[in-house]
Amino acid sequence: MPGRLDGKVAIITGAARGIGRSAAFLFAEEGAKIALADQDEIGGEETVATLRSQGAEAIFIKTDLVIAEQVAALVEKTRQAFHQINILYNNAGLNHFAIITNTQESDWDRVMQVNVKSVFLTCKYTIPVMISQGGGVILNTASAAALVGLRNLAVYTASKGAVLQLSRNMALDYAKYNIRVNAICPGVTSTEMTEKVIQADANPVEARARFDRVIPRGSMATPLEIARAALFLVSDESSYITGAAIPVDGGYTAE
Ligand SMILES: NC(=O)c1ccc[n+]([C@@H]2O[C@H](COP(=O)([O-])OP(=O)(O)OC[C@H]3O[C@@H](n4cnc5c(N)ncnc54)[C@H](O)[C@@H]3O)[C@@H](O)[C@H]2O)c1
Repeated sequence: MPGRLDGKVAIITGAARGIGRSAAFLFAEEGAKIALADQDEIGGEETVATLRSQGAEAIFIKTDLVIAEQVAALVEKTRQAFHQINILYNNAGLNHFAIITNTQESDWDRVMQVNVKSVFLTCKYTIPVMISQGGGVILNTASAAALVGLRNLAVYTASKGAVLQLSRNMALDYAKYNIRVNAICPGVTSTEMTEKVIQADANPVEARARFDRVIPRGSMATPLEIARAALFLVSDESSYITGAAIPVDGGYTAE
């Protein structure tokens, strides 16, 4: 049976672990060639080695996504390796728990850089390639935190709101070039990002239960559940969806 991404080339950022890693395996299973971008060399190389051992075509390109030269090199190396770029999945991100009066300027700058500037840079360098080949798909990672306010997450929520609006804007600007741009809005997902928050709590068992309790579905997402929604949004099955914010949050933002 043909894969849903047969013949496609995808860049996935933040693919060394978590949701990005899960998406790399799923997209590869569906026939895509994958360029994984991450600053974590050990996780990135391990992921690529496992993908290749399963027969996938994949490369890891160590990239700090907030540095323009490195992002330009990521795009160029991907094009050289696979001759085209059909999918850009901007997944890398960073959270930061604080109310605004406790947020250090350096934390504000770092979160905005990793969550927003990285999307600006990858799109800036990838879109010309997509235009030259007649189109493409961009999926940016916002969050349930882009759709509702969340206590004690001021800069994170602001950054994800920015990603959402940037996605809508680019959807309008590049529709005429056959480029779709959407924002995926995951809810709490069982990854290292979430695990660090749980383990930092005085009572990790209660912290985990607290997360699950506020989600109507009754439990946090697995990375694969987010990756499956991402697969739909980067595949031709979602050909008429652009400029959309898609919650994948177990009902969290329905309340
Ligand atoms: N986990 C959740 O509950 C949750 C909820 C909503 C949205 N999200 C979003 O989903 C995305 C993935 O989350 P996750 O939980 O898998 O995160 P994670 O922390 O497990 O993984 C993030 C990956 O991004 C990489 N990364 C961070 N900064 C980078 C940089 N400057 N350059 C290159 N790589 C960098 C990290 O090395 C890591 O591999 C993020 O954008 C996050 O904000 C996560």
